[in-house]
Amino acid sequence: MKILNIGLYLLVSLSLLCSCSGADDSDNDMDSFISALMDEMTLEEKLGQMNLVTGGDIVTGYVMSNELEQLIRQNQIGGVFNVKGAEKILELQRIAVEETRHGIPLLVGADIIHGYETIFPIPLALSCSWDSVAVERMARISAIESAASGINWTYSPMVDICRDPRWGRIAEGNGEDPYLSSILGPAYVRGYQGKDMSGKDEIMSCVKHFALYGAVEAGRDYTTVDMSRQRMFNEYLPPYKAAIQSGAASVMNSFNLIDGVPAAANKWLMVDVLRDMWGFDGLLATDYGSISEMATLGYAPLTQASVKALEAGTDMDMVSSGYLNTLRESLENKNVSIGMIDRACRRVLEAKYRLGLFKDPYKYCDTTAATTKVFTAEHRRIARDIATETFVLLKNNNQTLPISPKGRIALVGPMADAGNNMCGMWSMTCTPSKHQSLKEAMEEELKDVAELIYAKGCNVYADETTEINANGIRQITRGNDDVMLRQAIAAASKADVIVAALGESAEMSGESASRADIELPDVQKRLLKAMVSTGKPVVLLLFTGRPLVLTWEDANVDAILNIWYGGSEAGAAICDVVFGHVSPSGKLTTTFPRSMGQVPIYYNHMNTSRPDSDPNVFNRYQSNYIDERNEPLYPFGFGLSYTTFAYGELRLDKTTLTEGESIKATINVTNTGDFKATEIVQLYTHDIYASLARPVKELKGFERITLNPGESRDVTFSITPDMLRFYNSKLEYVWEPGEFEVMVGPDSEHLSTCKFELK
Ligand code: NOJ
Repeated sequence: MKILNIGLYLLVSLSLLCSCSGADDSDNDMDSFISALMDEMTLEEKLGQMNLVTGGDIVTGYVMSNELEQLIRQNQIGGVFNVKGAEKILELQRIAVEETRHGIPLLVGADIIHGYETIFPIPLALSCSWDSVAVERMARISAIESAASGINWTYSPMVDICRDPRWGRIAEGNGEDPYLSSILGPAYVRGYQGKDMSGKDEIMSCVKHFALYGAVEAGRDYTTVDMSRQRMFNEYLPPYKAAIQSGAASVMNSFNLIDGVPAAANKWLMVDVLRDMWGFDGLLATDYGSISEMATLGYAPLTQASVKALEAGTDMDMVSSGYLNTLRESLENKNVSIGMIDRACRRVLEAKYRLGLFKDPYKYCDTTAATTKVFTAEHRRIARDIATETFVLLKNNNQTLPISPKGRIALVGPMADAGNNMCGMWSMTCTPSKHQSLKEAMEEELKDVAELIYAKGCNVYADETTEINANGIRQITRGNDDVMLRQAIAAASKADVIVAALGESAEMSGESASRADIELPDVQKRLLKAMVSTGKPVVLLLFTGRPLVLTWEDANVDAILNIWYGGSEAGAAICDVVFGHVSPSGKLTTTFPRSMGQVPIYYNHMNTSRPDSDPNVFNRYQSNYIDERNEPLYPFGFGLSYTTFAYGELRLDKTTLTEGESIKATINVTNTGDFKATEIVQLYTHDIYASLARPVKELKGFERITLNPGESRDVTFSITPDMLRFYNSKLEYVWEPGEFEVMVGPDSEHLSTCKFELK
């Protein structure tokens, strides 16, 4: 009964070889192969290919259910996701290949967002390195480890621009800037897909969440986005476009409404923009249950929702089973055509073909590979090095950091000995038992040279208990406690310096982790205040998946190093920075507000008609607040170093720019301190008058430079008219003649400015 597709693959390849007299057109080969296959497929088999199902909880040794195996045997699945372990995946793949009529292999997806078992810093942290080489290396290693574990499709990168730190998923993206995200998104894609996905360790990348998911109202998941087209095109869509045009073979659409239409059913977005304007011809999948949730969104019940999604060019239905169970009826009722179903099924098969699954369905199922390719010493060393690039030094009075490894050092806080919290969200493939906590890493670092006195001090929340609820989800319970605080005060009283490892637990960011109050939880603030009251130097190491409001901390703590979540090697990486082996070099890619009321707050905003003239007073009839300053606590692009960098004056080689030419903008940067360190030099422009008001500044370039103490270097940026383009009210991508400012400096607020004219 089974027609093994390897057979068909060889047959079609052979006949092509004969008929095409050696022509090597792989797209033609693919088309012929898939056409031949689809000619043999029933409608049910086609709908099965368009169905994507979850493998269930992969954290705690999930046992494959018979139901899943049964669905495969019945040709009702084109792909599964979030199944852990090559052996389990091999068994599923074997059933698909050997126990179904056509033997079509499965897509095997997973949320490998910042590493498989070698876990790297979360994406928001990675973006603070401004290092596309590091990001690509991270993605390459993720692909190697995933491929060795049976996975052929990762749901990454997420390139949703976000300006609202209440949204827990800000942790999963590249921050607030479209230019930076347009550089980092493609780096992820290159790393995952390698040359062309044909290699054994090359997997398919999926750009998400298309589109605008980072702009959900009030920072809550699964809700509304309403945005002008010009804002979409200028500020939110560029990173998706860049990642897609760098060759991403798949895209996931988003949960949100866009202009009242769910993204997965939004024909304008999926067909006019994604397919027609940007030329994307890869696989388009929904997010988890997006089709069935169109009913609760008030848009359409499952049958109509499935029609709308198919019409909008969505090929694969994640979890809703809407395509599987309703499209036959819709076809009979002529609400969809067989051509529409064929097109979607074809794209699923094309993705499998491009991955080389028809040639070798077991390409990713080498059950011995994981032992040599996963969590290797080399991968861990690279993860450690990359992590050191992602920490952002927010404050460092009196050179409190780095700490000399001598005397007595108190380590307090709920993040100090929390290996399970160091990896952040989407780290279900990590094994905390195999890596060090910060406390363990510090014990190793300080062995024989200094005394480490540890006290937890408090839970993440007062009297927190963490339980697994009936759905297998870790649940945080709040309460109240005192005993641990007394222990921490006792530890601190014996120490020369206090390190407080505080912040959010891993569950507090990522999906379904929005917060209305983005300060440190009260019980942790109480601990920190008690530490500050000792009068000893206090270093705050902040673990977080979002910007927090740190106004009190900034005013009262000596040093603040933002760790984010540094991954499995964070313990050693933190020691590298805290004890001065490496200077911090990360720069913020998301603005830190002074208070929640300033949100949304971002550097590349429009000017107001009445800008605030003096931040120290409330100026009536100017654009400001009665009770808060306008400017953020820490701006976009900000981050300190153990050294100091002196910036010279910005110089332009000319002050008029015409088409086909460029202006050279040069600035001298000198390392004036004692540490060898990396600096991220940033270039911004401002279009002073335009047919649509333009932001006060926009990032247009940056360069990472490493300077030895005393070393000086000229950094030169080339400014071309192309860099000054924007989408006008007709959505034409144009530059307009006129006056521009060009600004260069260490962050978005400390800039040296020149003007030029574009003619
Ligand atoms: C829902 C999330 O929004 C998406 O990012 C993820 O890839 C899917 N679930 C699959 O786990």
